[in-house]
Amino acid sequence: MSVKIGSLEMKNPVTVASGTFGYGPEYADLVDLDRLGAVTVKGISAEPHTGNETPRTFETASGMLNAIGLPGPGAEGFIEKYLPFFEDYRVPLIVNIWGKTVEEYGRVTDILDAPARIDALEVNVSCPNVKEGGALYGTDLDLFQTVVEEVREKTSKPIIVKLAPNVADIKLFALAAEECGADGLSIMNSYPAMAIDIETRKPQLANRTGGLSGPAIKPIAVKLVWEAAQAVNIPIIGMGGIYSTEDALEFIIAGASAVAVGTANFTDPSTAVRILEGIESRLAAKGVAAVDDLTGAVRI
Ligand SMILES: Cc1cc2nc3c(=O)[nH]c(=O)nc-3n(C[C@H](O)[C@H](O)[C@H](O)COP(=O)(O)O)c2cc1C
Repeated sequence: MSVKIGSLEMKNPVTVASGTFGYGPEYADLVDLDRLGAVTVKGISAEPHTGNETPRTFETASGMLNAIGLPGPGAEGFIEKYLPFFEDYRVPLIVNIWGKTVEEYGRVTDILDAPARIDALEVNVSCPNVKEGGALYGTDLDLFQTVVEEVREKTSKPIIVKLAPNVADIKLFALAAEECGADGLSIMNSYPAMAIDIETRKPQLANRTGGLSGPAIKPIAVKLVWEAAQAVNIPIIGMGGIYSTEDALEFIIAGASAVAVGTANFTDPSTAVRILEGIESRLAAKGVAAVDDLTGAVRI
């Protein structure tokens, strides 16, 4: 069941998606964190950040819209407030990072490079909900490469680049990340979307638009994982509407080496552990020796 992403060793292929599992402690009474392949925490920037006005979430058919806007304690705040908590756990820790400028991506990487307890950085270049940086870095190939190069230069920890779904050709971004030294890819972030209250005629989110996540986006994510997996040799963490063992296996067969459970955590925080147990028993029942054997096993 183990998976390697650069020097990051996950004992199983199931993690949680950034922003849907807090910073870890919030879920520790509900889930045995050490069962997970890794904990991926909410996005961290160099400085503390307040995020967007409310309402910041809205439920849609088979999913949700969010425009949280990446509130957080900043890199120093994270190290001070949350990192000591992980000393009692062995689970690998992936910290999701973002910046408003290329320089900020460099600075947050510099600060988070120091603590040995942080095992890997996931580079969010695809948040649809912040005005500066965010999605722009994920959809403009030149800017995208500049950010990945900047982060690569500042750390020797594994870096996992989280791709935006709203690009014409995901293979170009996947390849560019690999060429700039990424150790892995996360696919996908939420999809830019909007909902309007027809009585007030106002957008349902204070930010007007947000990111769509949950079961509604799963087929989009499976396609993007499949396309990217054909273009690169680095491992992919697949995510987007994973609620069940079957969903997770679909991503793995499409080309993912690991999966992340996101929006499902809001309805059942034990989803990731349930999926992990489900994959184990499925592999045993089908006589598949290693989860690796299923990665990219789609028959075309
Ligand atoms: C409330 C919420 C907050 C999120 N915050 C972040 C974040 O801080 N950084 C990030 O890279 N992705 C963030 N995401 C995107 C998720 O990590 C994930 O890529 C996306 O939701 C698709 O997976 P899902 O459909 O299983 O939720 C967030 C998603 C939601 C729903």
